[in-house]
Amino acid sequence: MKLPARSATDRLLAVADHALRALTSTPQAARSVPAGTATEPALAAADRRLSGALMRVNHVGEVCAQALYSAQALATRDPALRRHFEHAAGEETDHLAWTAERLRELGARPSLLNPLWYAGAFGFGLLAGRTGDATSLGFVVETERQVERHLDSHLDRLPMADLRSRAIVRQMKDDEAGHAVAAEQAGAAKLPLPVRWAMRVAGRVMTTTAHYI
Ligand SMILES: [Fe+2]
Ligand SMILES: [Fe+2]
Repeated sequence: MKLPARSATDRLLAVADHALRALTSTPQAARSVPAGTATEPALAAADRRLSGALMRVNHVGEVCAQALYSAQALATRDPALRRHFEHAAGEETDHLAWTAERLRELGARPSLLNPLWYAGAFGFGLLAGRTGDATSLGFVVETERQVERHLDSHLDRLPMADLRSRAIVRQMKDDEAGHAVAAEQAGAAKLPLPVRWAMRVAGRVMTTTAHYI
């Protein structure tokens, strides 16, 4: 059965609902936490603090991913591309749920600035969407590649004893690489170098701030 197309108002309401869920509710993951049944290792206090800070940064990244994909799905006029963004956003919801759960386990809190990060990333996503579908997909490729490199660096920095955080970060890294490949295959354009640099600077500001706040 063919479902009727959603009106602009329906889509705006869905966007608002999505934002509220990302920022206020406990997200529900479709896949179970990659750490599986790995028992909680006894972490030294300093290791626990470091893991909490790093997983807070990763949680902020996932809040931003929710905003980016939501904005880009809203901006495109191509229903197939909208479904592409919505599908990727579903996997990002798993990441959001896993990082939120791990923060709780570590006794760490999410970033106090999450509404600000969400709003900023949503603005970036809308801007990217307004430049056209190929550029919007190029923006996804560059973002996902940067996140993949960032998660790789966290595998060097996370305490070796923190098996649960490490398993989550490894699965997220694989998923982000998959999102980049999917966006490339969907027809992404390569972004100009200055834009990629600007995105790297924005990412650095976000990750440095979220480590502490
Ligand atoms: Fe993610
Ligand atoms: Fe992703």
